[in-house]
Amino acid sequence: MFNKKTIRDVDVSGKKVLVREDLNVPLKAGEVGDDTRILAALPTINYLVEQNAAVIVISHLGRPGGERKEELSLKPVADYLATLLDNKVSFVPDCIGDEAQEAVQSLQAGEVLVLENTRFHPGEKTNDPQFSQELAALADLFVNDAFGTSHRSHASNVGVSNHLPTVAGFLIEKELEYLGNAIENPSRPFTAILGGAKVSGKISVIRNLIEKVDHILIGGGMANTFFASQGIKMGKSLVEEDVLSLADDLLQSAGDKLILPVDFVIGEQFANEAEKKIIEVGNVPADWMVMDIGPESLKLFKRIINKSKTIVWNGPMGVFEFPKFSSGTFELAKMIAESQAVSIIGGGDSAAAVKQAGLSASITHVSTGGGASLQMLEGSPLPGLEAIHDR
Ligand code: 3PG
Repeated sequence: MFNKKTIRDVDVSGKKVLVREDLNVPLKAGEVGDDTRILAALPTINYLVEQNAAVIVISHLGRPGGERKEELSLKPVADYLATLLDNKVSFVPDCIGDEAQEAVQSLQAGEVLVLENTRFHPGEKTNDPQFSQELAALADLFVNDAFGTSHRSHASNVGVSNHLPTVAGFLIEKELEYLGNAIENPSRPFTAILGGAKVSGKISVIRNLIEKVDHILIGGGMANTFFASQGIKMGKSLVEEDVLSLADDLLQSAGDKLILPVDFVIGEQFANEAEKKIIEVGNVPADWMVMDIGPESLKLFKRIINKSKTIVWNGPMGVFEFPKFSSGTFELAKMIAESQAVSIIGGGDSAAAVKQAGLSASITHVSTGGGASLQMLEGSPLPGLEAIHDR
């Protein structure tokens, strides 16, 4: 299904290669707080180094709003990358301009140069042709490996492809193999598990998946809105009043494919210190709120998970950042990790939960893209992927 060129299709030896990675990693006190995306970029960078390319790495970091913000410099990421590579890694504090051009000119085959945050320039997010051209002028070839940025149409992932031969890196190839293939050609039964706070952000995902899956299990705050659409009292829980009738329509069209929790863990306030209780659906007191799915829901979900051959999970089952209300999310992660199914975790919160539980190695594929993986689950085109040149 992957009809795009990849780095295997081109000769990179002796070339200056511009590589767009998604190195948008969390920083803590000026240091890399989670290296997942840096590690995921290594196969492509290492391959280019081994093939004697001069490697120029670009990425955004955070949302600096088109101006220089020291706290969003990619320097700590470049330093971290240097600890993982044997070859020389240098850094320039801009991604275009004289200093970047000079560093590129003296860059030798097998060396790696990391350029500063592309979002320090307003032209990045507006996909400005001039800015794209200046980035492209640094290199002979463009490798797009930034899967996590694929849902954006920016200069450094889309604009550059108008000026240089553009191929996919190994990370993009791998993400498509799992996320794309599993959804289009799943081993069945195929179960999707969706959570997170809101139905509104996942309406298109549910509509797309309902056609393809055998079951959709719903947890997290979004389940509240489905119950409220059936007239069930949800107390002080988060309910999206403006999508109640849409939620009702989805429930009707999904029929028995869509499975909701049967019990909840509730709290009397939105805090880890809140008093908690387990109750059945329909029994949320007026001044309490749903914080997690309950043990009977987990048993129900487990029966379906254990029969499934493909599982895709996106979104937590409750407020898992509060340890008192995290067991639904972590127990679910454990069930998926222990199942025999091909398991695919969308990026963002569910990927963080799997990592926090130390279960990433037992999952078939944990995506590096939050918004991007969601857009793939919606079945919508991703501009960053479309821009890669066809075979
Ligand atoms: C992400 O973390 O989802 C990507 O790096 C995209 O970042 P953005 O949402 O700031 O565009």
